[in-house]
Amino acid sequence: MRSNYLVIKNKINKFKKKINVDGDKSLSIRWVLLASQAIGISKASNLLKSEDVLSAINCLKKLGVKVKFIKNTCLIEGRGINGFKFKKKLILNAGNSGTVGRLILPLLIKSPNKIKIIGDQSLSKRDFSRVTKPLSKIGASFFPINKSKLPISILGSDYLRPINFYENMGSAQCKTCVMFASLNTPGEMKIIAHKSRDHTELMFKNLKIPIKVTKGKKVDLIKVSSPKLISNFNIKVPGDISSASFFIVLTILSKNSELILKHINLNPSRLGVIKILNEMGAKIKTTNIKNYNGEKCGDIYVKSVQNLKGINCPSSLNSSAIDEFLIIFLVACKAKGISYFKNLSELDQKESPRLKLGSKILNMMGIKTKLTKSSIKIYGNPNLSLNKHFVIKNYLKDHRIMALCTIAALTLGGTWKIFDPKSIQTSFPSFFKILKENFKAKII
Ligand code: S3P
Repeated sequence: MRSNYLVIKNKINKFKKKINVDGDKSLSIRWVLLASQAIGISKASNLLKSEDVLSAINCLKKLGVKVKFIKNTCLIEGRGINGFKFKKKLILNAGNSGTVGRLILPLLIKSPNKIKIIGDQSLSKRDFSRVTKPLSKIGASFFPINKSKLPISILGSDYLRPINFYENMGSAQCKTCVMFASLNTPGEMKIIAHKSRDHTELMFKNLKIPIKVTKGKKVDLIKVSSPKLISNFNIKVPGDISSASFFIVLTILSKNSELILKHINLNPSRLGVIKILNEMGAKIKTTNIKNYNGEKCGDIYVKSVQNLKGINCPSSLNSSAIDEFLIIFLVACKAKGISYFKNLSELDQKESPRLKLGSKILNMMGIKTKLTKSSIKIYGNPNLSLNKHFVIKNYLKDHRIMALCTIAALTLGGTWKIFDPKSIQTSFPSFFKILKENFKAKII
């Protein structure tokens, strides 16, 4: 494998395997950021060591927080809530990570000096007004005024007030941003949030931060206020279901194969991919489920499927599968009938415009799609088998587009030249190692 592109010419042979995938990205970033607000040394084992998490760590180091790794354990010496110590004219680089960019800001809302947040080419195209608006109401200021894309500078305030925030996009990042802001804000923050991953709520409960969550059918009411302090806390990070989903689909689309994915985070707000694929004919099972600090973890069992069928995917599952749609689209290509995914405009707000790019890649593979600004119809072909040459480049180095194309190549055939394979470092550094060592994938 060269550094700027890889080539795949061979499908994968049948397999029966048991694997682990890298640690969960959402949990890793949340732990890193909250450990910086705790008093004393917090420890994490199996923390995801991907570029997104390293961006969070590098931001914290610049804010005066001590971070070190001893073998597989990350140690963070927190300085307490609002305990950052830093130079004037500070610039923090969130790299490719929307989560880091959007979740570091609320930790800076008391900063007496301006801090500039920058990101890479992809992150600089993404909307930040979704977090600067609520943070402005709480009392922070942003420069240039009304700018919605990075680079943006934040100036904090000593006069912060709690707000009533209506989160209507089903975005865990927006919800978490306001929850993190509550650490520095007197009084009670009230959030009505459309359903999205609830890792922050669970971590806050575990840390004894005053929080009350009332779950409704479509929305949750979250009331949260600042704790006196956060004590240091340890975590053992389970595997990431978003990374696991690439191997789930590798198995579904391969012949006569079986796979067990060990110790994966099975938080119910992340299980959309399993529900959708099972509705399409897969028989994915979860076993050995245990509760760990409020988070459910367990194993996933999956095997190859012959008769996949299309799905009219209920939008109520969208936020619980938001990072998995690209790989779900690949399954829809092999399913009998038309699959329909709607109310998905948020997909075009990710590391790349995934709805548009996903559709383009499917079309390259000879699959018909009907695309609107917020929906896609995929006309499946159960006999789909590829034999052409495919070149994948200019996809804003989106890690999930890269992994999608790799799985397509290994299951559907053809010769694929995929540029920027290092983009996978964003979320899943062991991806190619696992493919080569466990599945004997020929990736040149
Ligand atoms: C994340 C939330 C999701 C997801 C992202 C991680 C998080 O984004 O796409 O990869 O850790 O909170 P949105 O909250 O913007 O939907």
